[in-house]
Amino acid sequence: MQSFTFQSPTEIIFGRGAEDRVAERLRARGASRILILYGGGSVVESGLLSRIEKNLTSAGLAFLVIGGVRPNPRVSLVREAIREGIAAQANFVLGVGGGSVIDSAKAVAHGIANPTVDIWDIWTHKVEIEQTIPIGTVLTIPAAGSEVSDSAVLTNEDTGRKLGLNTPLNRPLISFLNPELAFTLPRAQISAGAADIMMHTMERYFTNVKEPNVFTDRVAEALIRTVMECAERLLISRKDYDAMSELMWCGSVSHSGFTELGRCKDFSVHKLGHELSARFDSTHGATLTALWPSWARHVYKYDAARFAQFAAAIFGVNAGTDEERARAGIRHMEEFFTSIEMPTSLAGLGIGTPGKGTIEELARAATANDTIRLGCFHPLNAADAAAIYT
Ligand code: NZQ
Ligand code: ZN
Repeated sequence: MQSFTFQSPTEIIFGRGAEDRVAERLRARGASRILILYGGGSVVESGLLSRIEKNLTSAGLAFLVIGGVRPNPRVSLVREAIREGIAAQANFVLGVGGGSVIDSAKAVAHGIANPTVDIWDIWTHKVEIEQTIPIGTVLTIPAAGSEVSDSAVLTNEDTGRKLGLNTPLNRPLISFLNPELAFTLPRAQISAGAADIMMHTMERYFTNVKEPNVFTDRVAEALIRTVMECAERLLISRKDYDAMSELMWCGSVSHSGFTELGRCKDFSVHKLGHELSARFDSTHGATLTALWPSWARHVYKYDAARFAQFAAAIFGVNAGTDEERARAGIRHMEEFFTSIEMPTSLAGLGIGTPGKGTIEELARAATANDTIRLGCFHPLNAADAAAIYT
């Protein structure tokens, strides 16, 4: 096991009615002027936003509400919210929604705390920041894990780039997780979220670290199996509280860093996927299932034994050589993605079949013109990326 430092400081309030404790807990954490951010309207329709507003009003807490965050969130709305937050002297940002809203909330908090900096300069590492204001989340979809993660992903519509920023400043101070809030999710979002949760652990499981890491492996394998089982149950009955609870908690654990301890993360499929979202506005989880089988077939030979372990632990594949078991595991995972109605090719993303020129552009964008390598399991250059997209 490699040495590590782990700090996941987010206070988690989990269970039915968790959001009713927003005012009490935010006040305890020093919030007095709260900027609430939400998305396209699901939290208005469900009545969640008005419940939170009532809760804050009764507690005498001042707040300002900004909606309109889109999936694959845009930097332009973040800039607008930063201006309004500064004008209102907000000292806390609360994201009510999914990963897109929460990532935007993180960026808004950083922008308010660093008013002279353009937010995109932080995402492109032109400027390093050292402070932010506290961030809270009320989660409505188990998926991105942003409610605990140290990461936030923004899209710049002017440059066509979708970039993640990793910093401990991105860890929310507090997150409210009520599985019932996810009962209104459409099937496609349940599946895309489940796939994203699985991939946050799979992109940490397939790594180049050779030292044994038994406990982390077993946690990872149990998490992946749990998510698969619960996704299937939720596609039959989306109001299954027990299944939604497991999925939501797995979503947080999967991207907290806990399934990475003692090794390093790869995340190359995520980076290839971000290029598809930047160019075609594709749903994040769908980009991952569209690419993973091709990524796996491209790289498994560099450590077939690792893929064979995965096949045995997840699908009970115990017969054959490492190579045979590895290939069977990849095939079973592809079948699982199909069974939960997720795409396993670019054509399945509804973007047609990209031509050779587009594939090369995507591969060059992902690898900064072939100057950087993606991931660590088998570091990918532009030619690898193009082969996987193809
Ligand atoms: O905008 P509203 O109206 O709320 O609708 C959303 C949106 O259309 C809807 N939705 C959410 N909760 C709902 C609901 N609809 C009905 N009932 C509910 N309870 O779902 C749609 C998708 O929302 P979004 O926030 O985009 O989903 P998700 O949580 O999957 O977040 C995806 C974003 O997170 C980034 C992705 O790249 C993508 O931009 N990620 C962030 C990460 C992080 N910060 O750590 C890690 C991930 O790997 C990922 O990259
Ligand atoms: Zn993801």
